[in-house]
Amino acid sequence: QSSKKKIGQCVQAINSTLILTSKQNKKGSHTQILIKKAEIDAAVQLLLKLKVDYKQMTGQDYKAGCPPSENLIVSNNGPAADDCDGEDLVDPWNVSASSTKGVDYDKLIVRFGSSKIDKELLERIEKVSGQRAHHFLRRGIFFSHRDMHQILDAYEKHKSFYLYTGRGPSSEAMHVGHLIPFIFTKWLQDVFDIPLVIQMTDDEKYLWKDLTLEECHRFTVENAKDIIACGFDVNKTFIFSDLDYMGASPQFYRNVVKVQKHVTFNQVKGIFGFTDSDCIGKISFPAIQAAPSFSSSFPQIFGGKKDVPCLIPCAIDQDPYFRMTRDVAPRIGLLKPALLHSTFFPALQGAQTKMSASDPNSSIFLTDTPKQIKNKVNKHAFSGGKDTVEEHRKYGGNTEVDVSFLYLTFFLEDDEKLEKIKEDYTSGALLTGELKKILIETLQPMIAQHQERRKQVTDEMVQQFMTPRPLNFKF
Ligand code: TYM
Repeated sequence: QSSKKKIGQCVQAINSTLILTSKQNKKGSHTQILIKKAEIDAAVQLLLKLKVDYKQMTGQDYKAGCPPSENLIVSNNGPAADDCDGEDLVDPWNVSASSTKGVDYDKLIVRFGSSKIDKELLERIEKVSGQRAHHFLRRGIFFSHRDMHQILDAYEKHKSFYLYTGRGPSSEAMHVGHLIPFIFTKWLQDVFDIPLVIQMTDDEKYLWKDLTLEECHRFTVENAKDIIACGFDVNKTFIFSDLDYMGASPQFYRNVVKVQKHVTFNQVKGIFGFTDSDCIGKISFPAIQAAPSFSSSFPQIFGGKKDVPCLIPCAIDQDPYFRMTRDVAPRIGLLKPALLHSTFFPALQGAQTKMSASDPNSSIFLTDTPKQIKNKVNKHAFSGGKDTVEEHRKYGGNTEVDVSFLYLTFFLEDDEKLEKIKEDYTSGALLTGELKKILIETLQPMIAQHQERRKQVTDEMVQQFMTPRPLNFKF
């Protein structure tokens, strides 16, 4: 309580000093301004220390105006973007929403300062690519972007760009949520005919999880097989393990070091919530996730060119890394990457959190059998239906919170069929059991086909994808 009070006072002191300084700046002398700057610096240092004390005492991050709650999911590394009003927490390690409808993505756009993918952008993507927009775009699953218009402007002028996405290989099995950015990236690669780099952050997982380096590297290879099974073109795709590529590519490491020199500990504390007790590997890791955003990190692909624009498709949890990257890029003479952000594929238990590999009952894994899929959906998928058949027939179900329906929006490609299911469920004509059956019958063949394609991926193919080499790329 006392730490919170002190922090509140400190925030007030900083605010009033800032107001005073901005008033005095116009007429104040250089010395006066320096004194004020020293006062602000001291107050900021005190504030940071108090925030650390507060976290140690309560186990939670300080949020102005929010008392510590009993059951808030505490972030490993503190929230990069927390919302006092809505209590939505979205960062690379945690996603939790206050509403059963899930994260308020419109609010997130405002907080993160990105832009909505609106009708105009959708139409432009269709016009420039010459293809109907992917259903992830049509249905708002990819909902936010940064600088996508600039990518399209350049592409229209016959200037190519490249795609960059990634995976943190924390276990052998990926879940269906992990497929979302890869399915979409494959579509982008096909329609724009461009190269793609995929970063496997085995170093990140070693730093964050209780795993050995050997395990993390093995998961890289196993996960790469699932990624290759999404159908990427080997002539246009380079998959790399950080543990291997960092040592093999001087240009990549040079970009990492440039980023490290231009981002302070204070900045990463602010973005990622690192504390004094985090290991230094974590603190410097964001520079490693930033480096593939710059074409000069891949001389074998781009022949040393620094100015090939980069587009990053990912779920919005990864945005903190790229806010940092975009901030530092102009300061090291490099281009800011553009982004396309997706919503989260929800956990079986409901849209309040995302599907997570660390909770087996929250997820459908790419290794699940048809029987496991059926049992998980029937047993765990949160239903928006009513308690009794009579009530359901009378009042209908709620598709906004029904996990089976939400999953179908990701994987049932037929727009008309999806609309009919929505109508029938909302009117009460379709019961929860029937809706679950439709989902099971959609997921079972989809996962079985993925497993079949994965079986065809040999170690030699993985080796081919992971060898640094030139790619087919029209300049
Ligand atoms: P990771 O392994 O946590 O996730 C891999 C990709 O999947 C997305 N994702 C999801 N998308 C939809 N619904 C979900 N439930 C869901 N869970 C995860 C993530 O946003 C990510 O795009 N540090 C990264 C690896 C990385 C990376 C990148 C990712 C390195 N460079 C560039 C994207 C772009 C990680 O651990 O991802």
